[in-house]
This record gives sequence, structure tokens and C-alpha cells, in this order.
Amino acid sequence: MRTMHKTLLCLMGLWLAWVSVLPPGGLAQPVADPREAAFVDSVLSLMTLEEKLGQLAQYRGRWSDTGPKVPEGGEAEIRAGRVGSFLGVYGAAYTREMQRLAVEESRLGIPLLFAHDVIHGFRTIFPVPLAEAATWDVTAVEEAARIAAVEATAHGLHWTFAPMVDVARDPRWGRIVEGSGEDPYLGAQMAAARVRGFQGADLRDPATMLACAKHFAAYGAAEGGRDYNIADLSERTLREIYLPPFQAAVEAGVETIMAAFNEVNGVPAHASTFLLDDVLRREWGFGGLVVSDYTGVLELIPHGVAADRAEAGRLALTAGVDVDMVSGIYVDDLPAEVRAGRLDEAVVDEAVRRVLRAKYRLGLFEDPYRYSDPAREQALTLTPAHRQAARAMAQKSLVLLKNEGGVLPLDRTVGTLAVIGPLADAPREMLGGWAAAGRAEDAVTILQGIREAVAPGTRILYAKGATIEGDDRSGFDEAVRVAREADAVVLVLGEHHDMSAEAHNRTSLDLPGVQRELAQAVHATGKPVVAVLIGGRPLSVTWLDAHVPAILMAWFPGVEAGHAVADVLFGDVSPSGKLPVTFPRTVGQVPIYYNHKNTGRPPDPNNKYTSKYIDVPWTPLYPFGHGLSYTTFAYANVRVDRPVIRAGETVTVSVDVTNTGDRTGDEVVQLYLRDEVASVTRPVKQLRGFERITLAPGQTKTVTFTLGPQDMTFYDQAMQPVIEPGFFTVYAGGSSENVIQTRFEVQ
Ligand code: NOJ
Repeated sequence: MRTMHKTLLCLMGLWLAWVSVLPPGGLAQPVADPREAAFVDSVLSLMTLEEKLGQLAQYRGRWSDTGPKVPEGGEAEIRAGRVGSFLGVYGAAYTREMQRLAVEESRLGIPLLFAHDVIHGFRTIFPVPLAEAATWDVTAVEEAARIAAVEATAHGLHWTFAPMVDVARDPRWGRIVEGSGEDPYLGAQMAAARVRGFQGADLRDPATMLACAKHFAAYGAAEGGRDYNIADLSERTLREIYLPPFQAAVEAGVETIMAAFNEVNGVPAHASTFLLDDVLRREWGFGGLVVSDYTGVLELIPHGVAADRAEAGRLALTAGVDVDMVSGIYVDDLPAEVRAGRLDEAVVDEAVRRVLRAKYRLGLFEDPYRYSDPAREQALTLTPAHRQAARAMAQKSLVLLKNEGGVLPLDRTVGTLAVIGPLADAPREMLGGWAAAGRAEDAVTILQGIREAVAPGTRILYAKGATIEGDDRSGFDEAVRVAREADAVVLVLGEHHDMSAEAHNRTSLDLPGVQRELAQAVHATGKPVVAVLIGGRPLSVTWLDAHVPAILMAWFPGVEAGHAVADVLFGDVSPSGKLPVTFPRTVGQVPIYYNHKNTGRPPDPNNKYTSKYIDVPWTPLYPFGHGLSYTTFAYANVRVDRPVIRAGETVTVSVDVTNTGDRTGDEVVQLYLRDEVASVTRPVKQLRGFERITLAPGQTKTVTFTLGPQDMTFYDQAMQPVIEPGFFTVYAGGSSENVIQTRFEVQ
């Protein structure tokens, strides 16, 4: 066995020597790295059909007393060459041992890939992705993904199933927490940043890993906000709203894509040649690997497009799903299909090439153990620098929704402060869902953060008040008692970590359980109340908005939750997050999003026969892009460098932003565009640029954006991309609603 591996490595050396003397263009197909193609083909030529299909199999790990392990029987599968990768198996020493089995005890010695859902940090858990998107800080988001990669790769991982780049317009859908919200432009920026962060500049650097843009496609369009449900949408909406973040990820060089569980317009994504071949590979030129989502291949049977496992496998592999996660169909059922002539072995070969290429790009054929280094694992986990980055990210992700009468920031010498609520001292909840190797004991709770931040003489009283869910009101009296004793109250309310993420959809966006009643009881004491909200989706906190002077949306802030929240509550940091998603007044308004169409009868309060409701206003509780600061910003003088351009040219937009308050603060300057009249209806606004700036009191900065052809392009009635002549309105401001405007003309 050992000899086989050595043979493979020798072969690699020979190929390297051989291709280095090849003339340019010496290969039939242009490929980025001819040595890679030659090496991969050389390995492929040695493989049996079973070994090939084995490379396409990914199995799920199991949890043992000593951490994640390969499943029962996994070691035999490795030795038999019947597995290419594992999901949820990590640990430097353990992956080294499993890798040794693969490279020394399997016939060909092909190294394994270890994959995991590293979504918002590995051990140092950052704010959930929706919260990271609320920073609108592309650099910080890239850095967070890089830190996640540093930690994950030190634990033997090569591949993360992130970024999740699904646009979500329906907050009932629990997975809204994993993405960047409702906007394709912001989503595209975040997608590209995360890909850059995970993959770095060179995949051979063992601190980088394969990224995976998921779930392709329109997973966020699940009907009724119910996970796994069908997506039925126009090709225009698909292309304009749901696809841009995927395309951005592909342009940023993402190595892998995950197919979505859902069908799109009648065809399950796992069997969609339109999505996987026409769009992804042909239109966008994606050359990487496509992985199924979990048992997505098997699920073609209940979808009703495959009669049995073999047909499901044939459909998925032929459509372009290269790796079969969990189902085991490719490796178990497809050898017979190939032998019977129902599946062309060339299709198998192409998928295997993609897996081998990924392994080659990570440098695993040179050194299969490069990711499995216990010393790195020891040195690079939960470092103070990583925690500091998580804290800085959490600070920027907090969105100040309301601050009447300047209740915030609190004075750290406040006297007596009551901290009340089921999420005030809840370490596990701070991490949110998909917390990888995160641990509750690493998390700083909000109560702890506040205790550390107040002045020595300040008294902190704590009452849980209620549970997150359920109808137990027995803690109300204690909560009211401590509120009465206090000079101010911090009320920490919201969802637990398991109320959003996969399969955690809600039909209500209200505070769960009796939390609103708890807030009412505390509010009735007459003490100033600051509400801190924890959650993975927009919450329709209409009562709080009407009664409580200050509301801070904290999402799931990660390991440094308490520190970051206290930094903002006491004014060490001025809040600067902006909503990446609209907050509805009630779930009944869903879907509600800022980049809607105007309709022929836009809402008019004075006209009954216009597009609105009879029971609630049509407007959101808080609009997309909203977020207050402890200082104030004024926008003036939005202007274009040229009032008239020709189609295909660029226009430069500038706006002057002034800090009109008395403290330094960050502002996210947002730029929106509207095509006023076109041959198909266009959204009332589309985000086309943003920049986070820091301004000292009285300081003015001119922020400049360049709008290019891609910003003015849309699909015409024949679904062809066009820029049509006419006027465009440009809006600049601190939210999608609080804007000033100008216009330019395209001739
Ligand atoms: C199912 C989820 O949809 C996907 O996002 C995740 O990567 C896989 N399970 C693996 O855990």
C-alpha cells in the first residue's frame, strides 16, 4: 500500500518535470495550470470505476466521547478507496491518523478532504452572518472568514460549507440568519469577501480552505418561509435577486458550490441542468466542484423526479452534482449504471477530476498532512487576537433601532442598574446556530459584560424574569422588584439560538413566549428601559417600538457578546450597524423588502384603492439600511460629474456627509439607483454602493461612488441584458428611506 502512495507521488514528480517543458498551448483544453490537469489525468488513469465513484462519496462523521470521528465502518471505507471526503470530522491528530489510512493503506493513496460547516467562526465564534452583514464592513467580514479559516485548518479541515449566500426576503425562514439579508448587491459584496477570506490568495497556504457558496439556487425563496419548500419564481427574479451573490462568489474564485434542497420552477436544483450547467458552468465559467446538500441526491425520489436511487444518482451526476454528500448513492448504485451503459463513464471522470483538482490545489498530494498539525491547533485556537476581532465585529454589527431622548449611552456610574430577561445571562445563546466548535463557556454574557463595564460603585441587579419560550410568568414579580430598585433597566429579550437556522422557521416574528408581557410589566415601573434584542431574524417588536425609549438589535453576537454590547451601551463605541433586512411591523406584511416594484397604484394614504392594508400601515417598522448612532449625520450636495452619459459609460456620484453631533462616529453611506422609465418595471430603489466612514464632530467627508454599466443593466422582455436610454434617479443617505437625490440621463 505504502508503495502505491509512493508511486503516486513519484508520478507527480514526473509529471511536474514533463509539463514544465510543454510548449504553451500544448494541451487540447486551455486550463489554468497544465501541470494540474496532467497530474489529475494521470491519477485518473490509475483508478478503477469503484475508486472513482469512491472519490465522489462524502460521509458524515459521528460524535464520540473524544470528539468527532468517521462513522462506524469508515476506516474500512477509507482503506477500500470508497470515500473521498468526510463531513464534520476534525481534530489535528485524528485527521492525521485518518489521512494516514488513506495515503498509506488504500491502493492509490489519494488523500482525503475533511469538510465542516464553519459558518461564522470555528472556535472563536463571530456574530452570525446576518449580523456580520449589518456591519456593511467588507474588510472586517473578509478578516472574520480568514480567522475562521486559520482556526479550522489548524484542526485539520480543508473545506467549509460557507459562505451561505442565499438572499432572503422572508424572515419566517430560519435560515435568514445564515445569509446577508434581502439585498443582492450587499449579498454579493459579502459573498465575495467571505470567499476571499476563506480561500486567501493561495490555497496552498495551509491556513486557507476551500469555500463553498450555497445553496444554489433560490433556496431563500422557499414558499411560506418553510425550509426545503419549493421556489416558484420568474427567471427575472431568479437572475436579478437570487443569483448575483453566487455570481460574485464565482468571480471571487470560489472553489465549490452546494446545490440547494429546493426545486426551482419544477426542477429540483440537484437535477437542474439549467442551474448547474447552463448558468453555472457555461454562462459563468465555473470550473470548480459542486457538492450535494446532504441527502439532496436521494431526495430526488421524494421530489418525484427519480423512481429509485440509481435514477436519482444518474440525474444528479449528469446535471453536474460532483460529490454526493451522505446519500452513498454514487458509490453504491452507480457502478452498475455505468456497466449497464446507462451512465457514461466520462461523466464520472469529469466529476472525479474536479475532486482531484481540489485536493491538488490544496497541496494535499505534496503533503497530505499539512492541515493536521497539533502544534498549530494548540497555538491558533481562540487566541486573544481572534477574540478581539470578534469583539470589534460584534460592536459594528449592533444596530441601534431607536434612541428617544438620548437614553443611550448609559452612564457607567448610573447607581443601580437592573439587567432583566431570559437572554441576559445565556452564554450558549450568544453564539447563535451553526457554532462549529464554539463552546458556551467561551461566551461572555451580556450580564457579565455589563458587570465588567460599570464603575466600581454601580450596583447590578439581575432577574431572569421569564423563559425564552413558554408561558411561565412566575419570574415577573422578581423582575418588577429589581426594576423598581434600579435607576435604569437593560431588558434582554429575543430568540434562542435554535429558533433560527436550518429547519427553524416561525409563523410569528413576535417575541416568543411571554417576553412581551415581561417587557410590559417592567415598563410599567416607569423606569427608563433599554431593550437589547437577541435573534437571528427581523423581529416585529411593534409594542417595544411604541413604548420603550431605546432598542438595540444585537442578533447573536458571538463569543464576545457581553463585551461588545457593554461597549455600546456605555458609549465606548458609538453604534454603527445598519439593517441588512427590513423589519416588518407584523408577519402579515411578509414579504416586505425595500427594492420592491412601484405597482400601478403605489400606496397613498388618501386613496383607498391603492396597494396597502386596512389594518396596518404598508411601511416597515424599520427599513433596510436603518441604524442610528450616538451622533448625527447630515447629507448634502449629492451630485453627478456628468448629467448626461452614453450607455456603457460611467458616472461618478458624490455626496457630502457631515457629523453634526458632538462625538465621533461611523456612518455607512448608502447609494441607491432607480431606472425611472424602462421597458420592464424596475425596483423603486436598488443598492449600488456603500462605504463605511468615520467622522469626528463637525467633520465633513465627500464620498464618491462610480456607477458603471453593470449598475444600470437589467433584463429586457426577451431576457437580454440592456441599458435603456432615459433618466436614472440617484439616492444617497443613511438608510434606504432617509435619502437625498439627484438624477442623470443615459442617451
Ligand atoms: C444541510 C444544510 O442545508 C447545509 O447548509 C449544510 O452545509 C449541510 N447540511 C451539511 O451540514
